Amino acid sequence: KEEDGIHKTQKNKKLIDKLPKEKMGASSWYLHEYQGFWYTPGFLEKIFSLQENFEADPSDILVCSSPKTGTTWLKALSFAIVTRKRFDESSNPLLKAVSHECIPFMEFDLITGSSTTRDPQLPLMASHLPYIALPESVITENCKIVYICRDPKDMLVSMWHFGKKLSLKDVQMTSFEKFVEYFCGGRTFYGPYWDHVLGYWKASQERPENVLFLKYEDMKEDTLLHIKKMADFFDQPFSKEEEIQGVPEEITNMCSFENLSNLEVNKSGKHRGGTPLEMDNNLYFRKGQVGDWKNHVTQEMKEQIDQIMDEKLYGSGLTF
Ligand code: A3P
Repeated sequence: KEEDGIHKTQKNKKLIDKLPKEKMGASSWYLHEYQGFWYTPGFLEKIFSLQENFEADPSDILVCSSPKTGTTWLKALSFAIVTRKRFDESSNPLLKAVSHECIPFMEFDLITGSSTTRDPQLPLMASHLPYIALPESVITENCKIVYICRDPKDMLVSMWHFGKKLSLKDVQMTSFEKFVEYFCGGRTFYGPYWDHVLGYWKASQERPENVLFLKYEDMKEDTLLHIKKMADFFDQPFSKEEEIQGVPEEITNMCSFENLSNLEVNKSGKHRGGTPLEMDNNLYFRKGQVGDWKNHVTQEMKEQIDQIMDEKLYGSGLTF
């Protein structure tokens, strides 16, 4: 068995070596292109394993996103909605752990296909994978998928700041100009961003009962409306009594940027300690606003990003 594993790892490494790759500026990172999307080699190995082994259950609910589009928030909201009968405002695990720790991350926690790391009472799991790269059984078993996306300019600024904070550790960041250039060439982690968004957008049009497509900006504008939509989509609509008791409002407030970012665990805690994904929780909370890009993106960059997005999304009915 162990030999099989070693053999497979070597095979995967060889396969990855053959894929088109690109060095990310001055950083020591390479992204490799697989099925039209760009990944780091470490993640690719996990994705191969996930695609090969993962067996979805029809009751599984996937929380999907491209990095830096509001994943932390969507996970918190999904978790709070789905577990609202198990926990109240004071006992909710979201008050003691960042949402990334409350929901298994497919590309990291579920790669062996074994469900040992899963809480049998929790149908949720999360992924940054593009729609076409999801394990086949997720589609054939008709799992529900909730997806969030965001104005690419805000996503880029968010990713840039995230990368810069990481660079204090071991990742060297390129200039913002270079970063925009990579974005426009489609070379971002799990990018091209437009293809990531389009994959889920089209799926939500074709299979609306299975794929709920959300935008960060809309959710900020009316969070309550969207968490009701999410609860309906999960087949767990808020009852009349819950509405009277103000449960949707409680969830909205508990998961707000202001509340979560001020929790001690999110100010000073870490998650996935001792693993390659160890991360300070506060890295996931910066401003939580719509339109912060205006403080970082020049007019020229804005035009460049808008133009490429318009071209790529043309005819899809989706705009930013
Ligand atoms: P900014 O960097 O623009 O502030 P992800 O969770 O996908 O990594 O995305 C991170 C972005 O979501 C960051 O955006 C972060 O501040 C914002 N965010 C985190 N928690 C949030 C919440 N509860 N409500 C709204 N935005 C949130």
